[in-house]
Amino acid sequence: METSKKVETHFNREFREFDSFYNEKKGIFSKIIDGLFRRSMQMRFEKVIADTAPYENKTVLDVGCGTGRFSIALALKGIKKALGIDFAENMIDEANHLAQQFNVSHICQFVKADFMQMTVKEPFDHVFAMGVMDYIEDPVPFVKKMVEVADKSVMISFPVSGGIIQRLRKFKFEKIQKCPVFFYSRNDVEQIAQQAGAQHFTIDQLAKDYFLTIFLATEATECTE
Ligand SMILES: C[S@@+](CC[C@H](N)C(=O)[O-])C[C@H]1O[C@@H](n2cnc3c(N)ncnc32)[C@H](O)[C@@H]1O
Repeated sequence: METSKKVETHFNREFREFDSFYNEKKGIFSKIIDGLFRRSMQMRFEKVIADTAPYENKTVLDVGCGTGRFSIALALKGIKKALGIDFAENMIDEANHLAQQFNVSHICQFVKADFMQMTVKEPFDHVFAMGVMDYIEDPVPFVKKMVEVADKSVMISFPVSGGIIQRLRKFKFEKIQKCPVFFYSRNDVEQIAQQAGAQHFTIDQLAKDYFLTIFLATEATECTE
């Protein structure tokens, strides 16, 4: 089975367990586990929300949106439009269900699609992929396509390579759950950004993630790291 099919199968099966991270009513044990192993998820969530401001009239493309939590949070902050895409159908169904629950269905559209196969018809102010590069075999064309459809910025998380936690994660994903997973050094992220055509970018380390921001057009402020 090819990599993308294995990833799709994995997230169709694990969508509830994945989304439990965002559930505020979780038990104390889950909170401790999240504090130990999933701090990057909280940090990147807060950074995307903060870095999309000001919200008025903004449009976002949420690549590998999962259950749509980023788009929904941004809709509640006041953005104009979010398009979330994901190839795992169960993730998309849950995202649409949550959008209805939060009364933001008129702002958020969630569509089942493989980002590399789809045509993006219009540019978006901010294009982001959070927790997605972990599952992408060929990252340069993926990032390049994100840059091509963004007007202001591209934000992408990359899991940091090395360390015992990452080795345990690789074992769990690949040997037990049969889902490939990829890790990156800071140098890898820099090379990927450059090969994807980025000229102005920053790389921040947020716990076990590198957070790449590519600035486009008038948003350009800094250059690398
Ligand atoms: C770990 S989840 C992250 C979900 C969401 N971004 C979040 O952080 O809450 C990764 C998601 O990326 C999706 N994905 C991976 N590769 C994709 C691709 N080529 N096209 C669309 N979705 C993809 C998977 O199906 C999965 O739902």
